[in-house]
Amino acid sequence: MRKPIVVGNWKLNGSSADNESLVLGVIDGMRELNGVDVGVCPPFVYLPQVEKLAEATDLGLGAQNCSEHDSGAFTGEVAPRMLHDIGARYVILGHSERRAMYGETDEMVSDKVKAALSAGLTPILCVGETLEQREADETEAVVRQQLAAVISGNGIQAFEHIVIAYEPVWAIGTGRTASPEQAQEVHAFIRGQLADHDANVAQSVRIQYGGSMKPGNAAELLAQPDIDGGLIGGASLKSEDFLGICRAAADTVG
Ligand code: 13P
Repeated sequence: MRKPIVVGNWKLNGSSADNESLVLGVIDGMRELNGVDVGVCPPFVYLPQVEKLAEATDLGLGAQNCSEHDSGAFTGEVAPRMLHDIGARYVILGHSERRAMYGETDEMVSDKVKAALSAGLTPILCVGETLEQREADETEAVVRQQLAAVISGNGIQAFEHIVIAYEPVWAIGTGRTASPEQAQEVHAFIRGQLADHDANVAQSVRIQYGGSMKPGNAAELLAQPDIDGGLIGGASLKSEDFLGICRAAADTVG
């Protein structure tokens, strides 16, 4: 049985005041939650604030990106060891917004996964196709390629320490969610790709769905056999919405 994992990706949102009420609200609601891993990924500058608020709670902390380098002349970058140093557990890597807007290639994502793993972080590796690619029937080819780069750069065993997030680009921030069947199909495909290398790793890896997941559609998505949680954008900015999704995930555990 895979433990569900729900993580909020705050993207470029937040302020000291808003973060405090959001995080305290999430922590309060988490007291009634069992059997689900919950995390939030604020912008870099707010990580210490959220770490302090979440101290001695089960709320996991994550970043939205990191450098593939450990130190050196890389102005503006943040090393995974620094994230680990300030108490982060997760780092989102290869998000479609970074691939599309900041030129991150499959190879760069693979290098970042390697750096994050060696710093002791759990990468949340994002994969997913654009609308154009889906309509051209390229979904599987795109996802296969995104995964293959990380498998060849890190080895299949690395996936024992990686969470995968399937995020169809056309469903992100659009209000247009993949149907449970559409999502399940790709999640099963992802697990199958890993199973070609190692069946045990494939069975144990957790695969989140991301893309307009909300309290109203979370239960049916999370009921799918290969959907093990959610990576939540917009709905992670309101504690009640985020907690609604966390509760739906906890309900799948029974
Ligand atoms: P939305 O939930 O806002 O669609 O964003 C999903 C996402 O990109 C999470 O990483």
